[in-house]
This record gives sequence, C-alpha cells and structure tokens, in this order.
Amino acid sequence: MKYEGKTKVVEIKEKEAIISFKDDITAGDGAKHDVFAGKGSICAELTAMAMKYLNEKGVPTHFLEFVPPNVLRALPLRMFPLEVVVRFIKAGSFLRRYGGIEGEVFKEPIVEFFVKDDERHDPMVCMDHLEVLNLATREQGMEMKKIALEAGKHLKSFFEMAGFELWDIKFEFGLTTDGKVVLGDEVSPDTCRLRRKKDIYDKDVYRKDMGDPIARYKEVLEACRGIVSL
Ligand code: TMP
Ligand code: ASP
Repeated sequence: MKYEGKTKVVEIKEKEAIISFKDDITAGDGAKHDVFAGKGSICAELTAMAMKYLNEKGVPTHFLEFVPPNVLRALPLRMFPLEVVVRFIKAGSFLRRYGGIEGEVFKEPIVEFFVKDDERHDPMVCMDHLEVLNLATREQGMEMKKIALEAGKHLKSFFEMAGFELWDIKFEFGLTTDGKVVLGDEVSPDTCRLRRKKDIYDKDVYRKDMGDPIARYKEVLEACRGIVSL
C-alpha cells in the first residue's frame, strides 16, 4: 500500500516501510505550499541521525536504515492519527492559546496531544478524548506520553551537542505488527523549534516568511553530522 502525504510518500510492505521524503514544505494546514530542491534529503538524513541516536538510547523508533539521498527503511506501523508535542520553552500555539512570554522556560517539559485533522485545524485533545474518539486507548496514550518525554529529553541533548536549543518538538506514534507503541514519522526542522540565540533554524522561517529556510536546515544538518554517523 502506498500513501502520499504533504511531505512524504510511504510504501508499506509486509516487513518494512519505505519512506521517501519530498522537497515540499507546507504551513497553515496546507494553505501555504512550496517546493525547495534538496529539502527532502536534508530532512531524511536528519531524521535518520536523530532516530538512530534515539534507538541507541533505548527509545523505540521505526528507523531501520538511511538510503541516501532521501529514503528511510523503517518498521511498518499502524499510525495513530495524533500529534504529540513536547514543549520545553513557550512559543507558537501555546502562546496563542494561553498567553505568556516567548522564550520562557517551563519548569518541567509539558506534553500536548492534537488530532491530525487539517479541516478542523488539528484540535487539541486530552486523555479522555483519546478513548471516546477512538483515537487510542488510555494505556497507549500514557505510553506515548512517556516515550515522547524520553525522546524529547534525549533530542534536547542531541541538538545541544550540535549547538542548538530545542524549544519544542512534535512526535507521531504507531503500533508495530506485534502491538508495541513506537515513535514513527520524522524528526527534522519541519517538526520542531530549533534556536541559536535569537536565530531561527526551523520551519518558523517559512511560516513567518523570513527568507530561505533551506540554508538554515543545511546548517542544522552539517552540525548534526558530527554527532551520529550513518
Ligand atoms: P505549535 O506551537 O504550533 O503547536 O507547534 C509545536 C511544535 O510542533 C513545533 O515544533 C512545530 C511542530 N508542528 C508540526 O510539526 N506540525 C504541525 O502541524 C504543527 C502545528 C506544529
Ligand atoms: N504541518 C502543518 C502544515 O503542513 C502546519 C505547520 O507545520 O505549521 O500545514
């Protein structure tokens, strides 16, 4: 089976998934859309490095192998239609929803769940909603929260080693064929906020029309190549 999303094509085979990263970039639930040559290969390689690092730390991910320039071999997963966000520092929709000061640090990281539904602009949900909306069981929800916090903690150190501050990050999870919850999807500047002092190295460059995001993404890639070899 082959699925095409906004930024990736996923082919599910019996024993593995083949994930091809596209050069497309979108924002505003698809309202804004562009194509930048080379973007897919940057995000694929960064995802491979971040997930290899997580696998080595004992955090379960779908990552198996990077096939240059823009493909990952991964475990075939049945994805939950959810986005799980870990926040270390206040920004983005947290500020729009609750107010506060951008850049303020949370005492402890927080976790938020959203339903993947572009038409409804990805509404936020709580643990009770997961069950009544048939999105996941409560146990699976708790497991996703636990893995998200663990993955977030390790990726914060990973990006720190590369010289960037991880403000927040979005994860997606799926079930393996034997029913285990594991981290799927991607880890890239498309799906997190990466800052160096006041400079932005993530998709906010594109969301806020602040110039060429790809030059920034390339800098992240170069810096991370020193940490994990593929
Ligand atoms: P938010 O502050 O807009 O809720 O975003 C939180 C984090 O999630 C941020 O790192 C960007 C990422 N994100 C996605 O990867 N996909 C999305 O659709 C949204 C809205 C955010
Ligand atoms: N991922 C969403 C989109 O592609 C929104 C975003 O990342 O800002 O439209």
